[in-house]
Amino acid sequence: MIWDLPTRLFHWSFAACIIGAFISGERGALEAHEYFGLAATGLIVFRLIWGFIGYETARFAHFLPAPATLIAYIKAVFARRPNLMIDGHNPLGGLAVIVMLSVMGVMGVTGLWTGDDVLYDAPLTVAGVAPQLAQPMAVWHEKLHFLVPLLVLIHLLAIIAHRLWLKEKLLSRMISGGTAEHRPTRNETIKGLVLLGLCVGGSLSLSLLTPTY
Ligand code: HEM
Ligand code: HEM
Repeated sequence: MIWDLPTRLFHWSFAACIIGAFISGERGALEAHEYFGLAATGLIVFRLIWGFIGYETARFAHFLPAPATLIAYIKAVFARRPNLMIDGHNPLGGLAVIVMLSVMGVMGVTGLWTGDDVLYDAPLTVAGVAPQLAQPMAVWHEKLHFLVPLLVLIHLLAIIAHRLWLKEKLLSRMISGGTAEHRPTRNETIKGLVLLGLCVGGSLSLSLLTPTY
């Protein structure tokens, strides 16, 4: 198996939460935005931990490319002969994962202090955690939000390019998990699912700090 169940569950719920957070943020639907944003942030925390203790292909050590490997891969892509049998992310995909998690992670963390200057104060501001951060965090949350659709667009174009240019079917294996010699054990899968639930639940519980509308 290439993608274990917790990683696939992470991926599809993360995609849904990021789309939900972006649309609700743009529309000023702050109650929904808080839930989507907190869930996305919890998912990122899960993915960071899973990158160290998770199933083989989900580990950062498995796919973080050395610069020489990355350059060799990019050259091979342009020559249309990359190694398509790579088990997990290719070097460019590995880099994209880090960029996406970092940018979305910054959106999530800055959001924890972002208010709307009218009715809504974010959880950590309400809790009195470093209230002096509320102003700069809100500025960065606003400044960086354009990167979200940009990265998603690049991500989708890359998947389409893989399909059309390299004849590589990445989508089906992110749905089914794909096939490979090794499979995660039942215990590994359960460990991942429990961790995912704890991270998302823990993050969502921050919404208890803010008043409901
Ligand atoms: C990865 C997660 C997140 C994404 C992608 C995201 C995205 C966005 C976007 C696109 C906007 C609209 C910006 C604009 O049009 O100026 C926004 C605004 C906002 N976000 Fe987030 N956000 C995330 C997490 C959070 C979290 C966790 C919170 C709070 C718990 C939060 C609180 C807010 C608030 C209060 C606004 C409105 C700011 C204003 O009206 O000035 N966000 N966010
Ligand atoms: C807001 C939307 C999305 C976000 C934020 C997002 C984010 C990500 C992230 C972080 C990964 C790395 C997975 C990991 O290692 O944990 C990934 C992989 C992947 N995503 Fe998405 N994704 C989004 C939407 C989609 C959609 C709509 C598709 C399908 C068309 C898709 C297809 C894939 C595939 C096939 C991979 C695996 C690539 C590979 O085999 O190396 N994603 N995505």
